[in-house]
Amino acid sequence: MKRSAADERVLGAAAEIGRRIGSGKVIDDPDLLVPYGADESGLPASLPAAAIRAVDAADVAATLAVAADRGVPVTPRGRGTGKSGGAIPARGGIVLLTERMDRIVEIDREERLAIVEPGIVLQTFQEAVEAEGLFYPPDPASLDSCALGGNVAENAGGPRAFKYGVTREYVLGLDVALMGGATTFAGRRTRKGVAGYDVVAALVGSEGTLGVFTRVVVRLRVRPAATQTLLATFGDEVAAGEAVRDLLGSGLVPSVIEILDRHCLEVIRRAGHNPIPGEPGAALLVELDGRRPERVEADAEEAGEILGRRATEVLVASEPGRRRSLWAARRELSTLLGKAHAGKLSDDVAVPCKSIPAVLRRFAELGRRRGVLVSCYGHAGDGNLHANVLWDDPGLDVAGRAALDDLLGVVLEVGGTISGEHGIGMAKREALRREQSPELLALQRRLKSAFDPSGLLNPGKVIPE
Ligand code: LAC
Ligand code: ZN
Repeated sequence: MKRSAADERVLGAAAEIGRRIGSGKVIDDPDLLVPYGADESGLPASLPAAAIRAVDAADVAATLAVAADRGVPVTPRGRGTGKSGGAIPARGGIVLLTERMDRIVEIDREERLAIVEPGIVLQTFQEAVEAEGLFYPPDPASLDSCALGGNVAENAGGPRAFKYGVTREYVLGLDVALMGGATTFAGRRTRKGVAGYDVVAALVGSEGTLGVFTRVVVRLRVRPAATQTLLATFGDEVAAGEAVRDLLGSGLVPSVIEILDRHCLEVIRRAGHNPIPGEPGAALLVELDGRRPERVEADAEEAGEILGRRATEVLVASEPGRRRSLWAARRELSTLLGKAHAGKLSDDVAVPCKSIPAVLRRFAELGRRRGVLVSCYGHAGDGNLHANVLWDDPGLDVAGRAALDDLLGVVLEVGGTISGEHGIGMAKREALRREQSPELLALQRRLKSAFDPSGLLNPGKVIPE
């Protein structure tokens, strides 16, 4: 295969990085690079010409120094589970792999914080923390395979974000390497701190475009001792949406309020999971947790009564096996929907909670108008809906894309946002113009160039040109 001049330049840079950090950390065999061209967004792959497998901060800094010097794009990668194309090397170049940087440096029980490397798998970290009686709540559906560093880059959420907040709420400080190879610590190791600009806030959710994290300081909580799980079924998703409003108005604070519409429940059933009895029109999965089991039980009873006013049935699913199978089915849903249809465009919009019933109704209508199905599930307590535009006839690709455009229009009209948790990446880059003013986009371009004047770090992402 003949390589382009740009690829030759990347390979030259990769060889120079290899001379500095060890050639064993350089991958340039095109076959071995295939896994690093894509993520879980479903967007078309774009292959890098080389990858660097960093094992420490010095490797990361050396990569960013050589790449800046030689004008080569670098795309940092956690474990590639992102949903918006953040880890796709849109302009080729070098992919900077951080998965080998996966150590827990310290868990400080007294201060309730941990220092970790970015490549650690989220669930591995959570289990280590829980063994100490502590708790790290963010729980994206990919928790058994995603990297904590990727979570920070995308400011990942998940079901428990309703009570506990998203990744941003937990990041106190970051060791970060900048394009050009400079390294610094931003943030703090104390619970409070307001020194200087909040650079950590800019870095969290920057989708790999501002810097590469080499260590993360996260705040921890005390592990809740008790959890109760309720499953309520409804005639349709609008009734379920109304029940979410009732629950939010009650003053109870569940840890999780997840919604699943009729089609999602059917897809779960067809996949053989069958954790939900009957053929309901919609369901809510609600969890309550806390330190005192009797308190949690009383709250669960109250939540059950509130749900019962609109539900066809309310089941308590606190038996661990049943709870596990419910969550396994829920976490697999995105994949299951993709497998069940020829076409799928998925979304992670967030809307004001009071608009949920109306938004669900309008999504269904706009789907019908375009001849596609819009099926929703997601983190209803946060108004964060995964609206999936689905079709089976390949001739409907254009209609599917148009339905997604209509859907974003509805979201913006009710005061929502185009991304509640998956980030902008490549998937919603153009759509960001519909939500944010030209002035705000220009300000963000200037922020980007303050961190990365050459524009070589994860180019082609987030802020439209
Ligand atoms: C979920 C992912 C898609 O909630 O965010 O399943
Ligand atoms: Zn989600």
